[in-house]
Amino acid sequence: MTLPNLAPIPELYVSHESAQKLKIEAGNLPSWDLTPRQICDLELLMNGGFFPLKGFLGEADYEGVVENMRLADGTLWPMPITLDVTEKFAEGIAPGQDIALRDQEGVILAILSVTDKWVPNKAKEAEKVFGADDLAHPAVNYLHNTAGGIYLGGPITGIQQPVHYDFKARRDTPNELRAYFRKLGWQKIVAFQTRNPLHRAHQELTFRAAREAQANLLIHPVVGMTKPGDVDHFTRVRCYEAVLDQYPQSTTTMSLLNLAMRMAGPREAVWHGLIRKNHGVTHFIVGRDHAGPGKNSQGVDFYGPYDAQTLFKQYEEEIGVTMVDFKHMVYVQEKAQYYPANEVPEGCTVLDISGTELRRRLREGLDIPEWFSFPQVVAELRRTSPARAKQGFTVFFTGLSGSGKSTIANALMVKLMEMGGRPVTLLDGDVVRKHLSSELGFSKEHRDINIKRIGYVASEITKNGGIAICAPIAPYTATRRAVREMIEAYGAFVEVHVATSLEECESRDRKGLYKLAREGKIKEFTGISDPYEVPTSPELAVDTTGVDVDHCAHQVILKLESMGLIKA
Ligand code: PPS
Repeated sequence: MTLPNLAPIPELYVSHESAQKLKIEAGNLPSWDLTPRQICDLELLMNGGFFPLKGFLGEADYEGVVENMRLADGTLWPMPITLDVTEKFAEGIAPGQDIALRDQEGVILAILSVTDKWVPNKAKEAEKVFGADDLAHPAVNYLHNTAGGIYLGGPITGIQQPVHYDFKARRDTPNELRAYFRKLGWQKIVAFQTRNPLHRAHQELTFRAAREAQANLLIHPVVGMTKPGDVDHFTRVRCYEAVLDQYPQSTTTMSLLNLAMRMAGPREAVWHGLIRKNHGVTHFIVGRDHAGPGKNSQGVDFYGPYDAQTLFKQYEEEIGVTMVDFKHMVYVQEKAQYYPANEVPEGCTVLDISGTELRRRLREGLDIPEWFSFPQVVAELRRTSPARAKQGFTVFFTGLSGSGKSTIANALMVKLMEMGGRPVTLLDGDVVRKHLSSELGFSKEHRDINIKRIGYVASEITKNGGIAICAPIAPYTATRRAVREMIEAYGAFVEVHVATSLEECESRDRKGLYKLAREGKIKEFTGISDPYEVPTSPELAVDTTGVDVDHCAHQVILKLESMGLIKA
């Protein structure tokens, strides 16, 4: 079913009166506290952004979407929108039951009438939807390490939209945007999707796209969830606002989209097209490496740079939105102008600054030239990411019990305090277990809770400009990665593997614990009766065998210097 672009789109909300009644009734239902990603999905389900979906996918629709990008009735839909829950919660739920969906403060947003409950084949979902079952892909990592093991599906009854306190005036539902376009008489609208600050290349690209399509321009940045490590949306929106006056006011508008991206490249481009169609748009820009997740665990890009354009083209008619495709834009020095990479006049000098290079320059406080970006944007970026030597950071030691983590961590703390400038906090394994995690044991579940608590505290310290030194065993790769992601949102995460061998740790047996573990008197002891997953790419590895603590701490100091975190 296709609607003319500017007519209202069906939403899943009930009337205000019914919502008040339902809210009271729903108080007695079993309730699920939605994760941040699920809140984003629910918002777009309820406001028509994910039309024609009427709720979280049931099993037949899910299978179709995973297998061939189609719902059970054949409608094109490339992304599984599923409600993942824990095994424990799912135990008490059966098809036919209603559950209340709440936000993180407990506010009831919707009711899900459960029709399906199943155990998904996550490896297959990863292969089919993201192209590989490889944890280097952020959505595959999410699927295996964050998402619950059971999916629930069924129609949604919308009670209220998720609450936003930030940039309210810039957020629009599909129907609000459609009404705006109707009011202004805009009939052709080209949308630009972005998760990055806008620089001059983007401006040129959007100008060209609008000219080519003879259309008005909608700058439609994603502010829900993007790739871990991206510039936070508060900073980005301030950047967008700073350059909006560079666009002709009568032809361009900007609206924020609370989408949780999956970084699924080609499939994601098709999905983005459908979402924009629902927002009343007629044209959509697909550039180089659209929604690309970066490199896989072999160091190779997950998708080809123009795969997204190819797939979009294939489904363009069904999506109902015309693609405006662009090659990568580069700056041509002699012409003092931007050109698509394939249209550069012969013999000219091409200048370009990659995302990685831009981050390096920001980190190190280096020059960012005027041809690349707008002074207001650069100033905004520098304000939130000052040079590294002024930011907070976390040093995260991991290694076996008795490997020397605490000793090196203590020495490092003293050296950093001697240098001064930033407050230093030591979160040692034993100390944390006494003050933060005294009720926890050493099962996998408890170790994960313990490490995530340490990560949370360290991320707060990092965010506020301090130095956090952590020294737990932290035996699991996935948990260390989760902590890294938490911290890298605010500053550097320096993982130091204290790689002293098990034999050496056991022969030292400082606390006599290895002996007890061998005798079976301590259960689940790391290295003896419990696993330790060796870090594959820590920022630094040190072995304390035959070297003194001072030397090891000095190696860490050198590493911090080389990363620009402390001044020599
Ligand atoms: S974890 O896995 O990161 O949560 O462990 P952590 O919080 O660092 O706690 C490790 C310290 O607790 C003592 N201990 C044990 N370690 C490992 N396995 C078992 N079962 C265990 N039971 C007690 C041990 O002294 C560890 O201290 P460190 O400083 O690592 O030697």
